[in-house]
Amino acid sequence: MNNQSIIDGLLNDSAFISPKYFYDAVGSRLFELITMMPEYYPTRSEQSVMSAHREAIARALGSVDTLIDLGAGNCHKAGELFSSVQPKNYLAIDISGDFLESALVQMRKAYPDIDMRALSADLTQTITLPEAMRNDRKICFYPGSSIGNFDPDQAVGLLKKFKALADNSIAPQQSNPASAKRGGLLIGVDLVKDDKILHAAYNDELGITAAFNRNMLTHINSLISSDFNLSDWGHDAFFNQALSRIEMHLYARRDLVVTWPGGERHFKSGESIHTENSYKYQIETFMEMLSEAGFSEAEYWTDSQKWFAVFFARI
Ligand SMILES: C[S@@+](CC[C@H](N)C(=O)[O-])C[C@H]1O[C@@H](n2cnc3c(N)ncnc32)[C@H](O)[C@@H]1O
Repeated sequence: MNNQSIIDGLLNDSAFISPKYFYDAVGSRLFELITMMPEYYPTRSEQSVMSAHREAIARALGSVDTLIDLGAGNCHKAGELFSSVQPKNYLAIDISGDFLESALVQMRKAYPDIDMRALSADLTQTITLPEAMRNDRKICFYPGSSIGNFDPDQAVGLLKKFKALADNSIAPQQSNPASAKRGGLLIGVDLVKDDKILHAAYNDELGITAAFNRNMLTHINSLISSDFNLSDWGHDAFFNQALSRIEMHLYARRDLVVTWPGGERHFKSGESIHTENSYKYQIETFMEMLSEAGFSEAEYWTDSQKWFAVFFARI
């Protein structure tokens, strides 16, 4: 990982750290706990969409050689797809490599007939798929509304990248590039809703999201040898209506200085480090983004409250 980008973010006038740094082994476990919080509706809503529309989703996906799980985490959502989709191979990609490896140990026991591989990688960097998968019909799976962590223009760039990962029409062995072997992207997207519901989801009563946010500083200390003291920092999460996004910040509880080898940053009391955006979309806006990314067509399913949508976009 590029630690200079962490330092650049800390030295920015409005300090920021990329949300990908939430996920060391502790951060991945804290995220699992967040999904169990009663206020955190996204995981339950997405699972309810996937289970209510299981057969329709499986029909839309068609026959799948390889399911590529992007930011797989504990891999549970892919596991829930397996009975109806039945891929031959499963490739789980995540930046939190040790956590992913242990999740795959459990997955291999539960689904011995599926060939499984783990790839510890940063989705924002170049992803190279195993050569053996080149000619497979591939479906990319990006659940959890992780796409919401990116500004809309960056999100379209990432969607283009996922389209290229699933597209085997340029493989030389393909005699008919326009054939049905072209794959697609199954993606979960959180929708705009009452801001009280949004606010509660990122400010759970038990303080697990606050712990998840602060744990990022422990991870940063280990990466750049900085001296963040967690008790100096408070959790803040609010809905920015104008930009249709939840923002998470860590704010300094007093005037303080953070140092690392070769550098430092002064923070005034109340000054913040921006740690995450989570954009909330309208269905139409996200459809347009899929089209802008070059997908030929898309369909979607929602839960009964229309809080969350799952899209399948074809190449
Ligand atoms: C919000 S969690 C979702 C986990 C799981 N897919 C789910 O839906 O419950 C985001 C996941 O993406 C991973 N992740 C975050 N940024 C990443 C990046 N830049 N590259 C690869 N994985 C990333 C995290 O480690 C984490 O497992």
